[in-house]
Amino acid sequence: MAQITQGVRSILSSPAVYSIFQNLMGAHRFRRRFVDDFVRPFVGCTVLDIGCGPADILAYLPEVNYFGFDISDAYIARANSRFGELGKFQSKALTSTDIEKMPSFDIVLVLGVLHHLDDEVAVGVLRLANQALGPGGRLLTVDPCLELGQNPIARFLIRIDRGQNVRTRTGYTSLASAVFESPRVEVRHNAWIPYTHCFMECTRR
Ligand SMILES: C[S@@+](CC[C@H](N)C(=O)[O-])C[C@H]1O[C@@H](n2cnc3c(N)ncnc32)[C@H](O)[C@@H]1O
Repeated sequence: MAQITQGVRSILSSPAVYSIFQNLMGAHRFRRRFVDDFVRPFVGCTVLDIGCGPADILAYLPEVNYFGFDISDAYIARANSRFGELGKFQSKALTSTDIEKMPSFDIVLVLGVLHHLDDEVAVGVLRLANQALGPGGRLLTVDPCLELGQNPIARFLIRIDRGQNVRTRTGYTSLASAVFESPRVEVRHNAWIPYTHCFMECTRR
């Protein structure tokens, strides 16, 4: 995984610090809008969250059948202690065999993960997402995005991100296009704390 885990950014490996930092960056409002605009969950739907971190998104979902995977033991421990029975959390990289043992999914989330992965690993994750989706299921992704003319503060904040594979809209689109037909891609600029996100919505191929 291409991620900076040394220096001052190493403290973000602590789940509590990570969640506090996210909230300071406006994550509460961001997640509420993201769920309303893009995820559009319904009660009882199946949700797979690849790279779930401490699973903070669960606080914004209705009662769903949630499965979260993350390679960080500390983040999964935090998810378990905070959400317990509300989800099934596993501390490992998701595999094709894991998917065969789970129900098919209405919603797959890959939130803030692709910008940590090189192209080959990222496409592998997107292939797993496609395999996990059931009929009518959708994959949603969101990542920081570099764009010409974006707010310089947004560009600075994105440049110091732990993820070493932040892409442009074109870069994210070509990743998704390697697996999905006609991904819907949207770039949004946040004004309050300047930031630029790239959202993608993909349906099963
Ligand atoms: C920026 S965090 C995002 C966490 C969470 N999705 C969120 O929105 O708060 C990126 C996460 O991806 C996880 N990760 C990176 N590569 C992964 C992989 N191949 N499989 C599962 N998790 C991975 C990291 O451990 C980290 O928790």
